[in-house]
Amino acid sequence: MIVDWEPHAEEFRLDPYPLYRQLRDEAPIYHNEERGFWAVTRFEDCWNVLVDAKRFVNSEGVSLERYEVDQKLMILMDPPKHTWHRKIMSRLFTPRVIANLEPWIRDVCRNLLDDLRDRDSFDIVEDFSMLLPMYVTAELLGLPDDYRLTAKRLSHAAAQRVSSNAAPDEAIAASIELNERLYEATVDRRKHLGDDIISTIMQTPMVDDEGNEHYLDDEQIAAFFFELTFAGNDTTTRAIANAAVGLSWYPDQRRELVANPALIPAAVEELLRWDNPSHYLGRHSTEAVELPSGTIPADAHIAVVIASANHDERVYDDPELLDIHRKFDRKLWFGIGPHVCIGASLARLELRIAWEEFLQRFPDFSISGEGAVQDLSGQNRGLFHLPVQINR
Ligand code: HEM
Repeated sequence: MIVDWEPHAEEFRLDPYPLYRQLRDEAPIYHNEERGFWAVTRFEDCWNVLVDAKRFVNSEGVSLERYEVDQKLMILMDPPKHTWHRKIMSRLFTPRVIANLEPWIRDVCRNLLDDLRDRDSFDIVEDFSMLLPMYVTAELLGLPDDYRLTAKRLSHAAAQRVSSNAAPDEAIAASIELNERLYEATVDRRKHLGDDIISTIMQTPMVDDEGNEHYLDDEQIAAFFFELTFAGNDTTTRAIANAAVGLSWYPDQRRELVANPALIPAAVEELLRWDNPSHYLGRHSTEAVELPSGTIPADAHIAVVIASANHDERVYDDPELLDIHRKFDRKLWFGIGPHVCIGASLARLELRIAWEEFLQRFPDFSISGEGAVQDLSGQNRGLFHLPVQINR
């Protein structure tokens, strides 16, 4: 074996990009015999796998450990079941629903950041980036206020991994507790139906291609809440923290954004490419498939390393450099194909507003790295803690 990749090893998690480059150059179709998985790291291979939901399925588990196969999550379904589940979930993410959230999200950002206004330093994760998505998801789902912090603690613990091939007991316990809390919230919710979207989802059937009607029961709705909490919070929290690092390392680009906030949406895209919180996605091959860089055999469990694809020098010039003026034909930071991130427009909205409001109050800030704590768990990558110093 030319390259050895242990996805949960500390030295790799601290800076995975050099190893990704080695994999792209030396072993683009990588096989880790010992741990029993394959990996694709070049942009074209990742793209080809993700758009081919027939030959690369999710139902065999999307983590490398495959510990979650019996859960009722949409990310673990294949078409056609996935198709109608996703149609139901999509009711929460129509352009109108998302646009209506904008003033509310802005208010949350303003309140959180105004509280920090007089401080010379603060932890951007603990004081801002982990709170914002948690409040937004709770608002979207109409969850009770006291639920928010519990959800964050549990969804975080549920994502923990260590350098073994299994999810640790605390992660499994946290997943079960989070599911139970969400189930209680769902049962309570059904008792108080209103004219909101969750009530509509509870009461309106979805008709599949064969004309069969499907209702979601409380267990399925709780799984749906779980999925959104789990998929939406950690990613957005880390996206803000990773972007803060980029904007402190590239002060000229940060100054451009302060002078011209209309550039922020494009910068959000480039910051996601530069250090995407979502590192690899899991798939399983149903047959041998010829990819641009080689063959994946049948019955292979595969890590589709989109964070490596985002740095593929076959697609991007100087991929290690941040450049907010970069133009994109194709993007992989929210995935592609039938499982492409359903919350992408919400995430983009949150990130845009977060940086509009942040840079208006704190146009000049720096990060020394002291006190920063890298999260070494799971398929997302980012920081647990990131102290920022405000320069006045
Ligand atoms: C910067 C923030 C985010 C990033 C980088 C991100 C990234 C991704 C990626 C790469 C996928 C594809 C997974 C796969 O194909 O295996 C995905 C799926 C998903 N995301 Fe996001 N996401 C973000 C925010 C959100 C938010 C805010 C929500 C909802 C509140 C959300 C909900 C979901 C769901 C439910 C799926 C599964 C979709 C399906 O299976 O059809 N995500 N996300």
